[in-house]
Amino acid sequence: MGEHRVEVTVNGRSVSAMVEPRLTLADFLRDRLRLTGTHLGCEHGVCGACTVLVDGAAIRSCLAFAVQMQGCAVTTVEGLTPSNGAASDGAASDGAASDGAASDGAASDGAASDGAGLSELQAAFRAEHGLQCGFCTPGFIVSATALLANHPDPTVDQIREGLSGNLCRCTGYQGIVRAVQAAARARHAGHGAGAGHGAGAGREADGE
Ligand code: FES
Ligand code: FES
Repeated sequence: MGEHRVEVTVNGRSVSAMVEPRLTLADFLRDRLRLTGTHLGCEHGVCGACTVLVDGAAIRSCLAFAVQMQGCAVTTVEGLTPSNGAASDGAASDGAASDGAASDGAASDGAASDGAGLSELQAAFRAEHGLQCGFCTPGFIVSATALLANHPDPTVDQIREGLSGNLCRCTGYQGIVRAVQAAARARHAGHGAGAGHGAGAGREADGE
């Protein structure tokens, strides 16, 4: 199958690569750019684990082809994580595997176990028990980012609707809703929503 050149900005870095038309955006990000924070669960558009931002809109990267990203700006969970926002070394080349050093950017990442280097939203997930195994977390972080961009002060219903395309099979959703509420409040207050603010914050979500 012939290859096509795609030029795309990923987490702020220009990437030019030759890709087969059948290569999904998810596989391009994970296998070619080593941005493995974008997870693959169902691979047919149901679970939301593969969610990324394309020109600011949340999409499922398992349902998009890399070649469709020509001229677009893609943001993965790594790009939303202050400690590792740039694509890994080699990402700007023709897709050769890089050093593989990119961590997955999930709030459960062991390297960030002290909470350092997390975004406000990631810190809120951590503080509000919005994750357990963390597999779904990158997708939730990306979807919640898009949600908060459109609704800086979202209601519980708006949060639930905005995250309705993401499935979590272990934590339950109340902590996730609380986390988004806490992040929104923290932004309004102009300070972080990190550890120490979790237990009493955002209880409006309880009982939903
Ligand atoms: S892996 Fe893309 S929606 Fe599940
Ligand atoms: S935290 Fe385990 S699937 Fe969501």
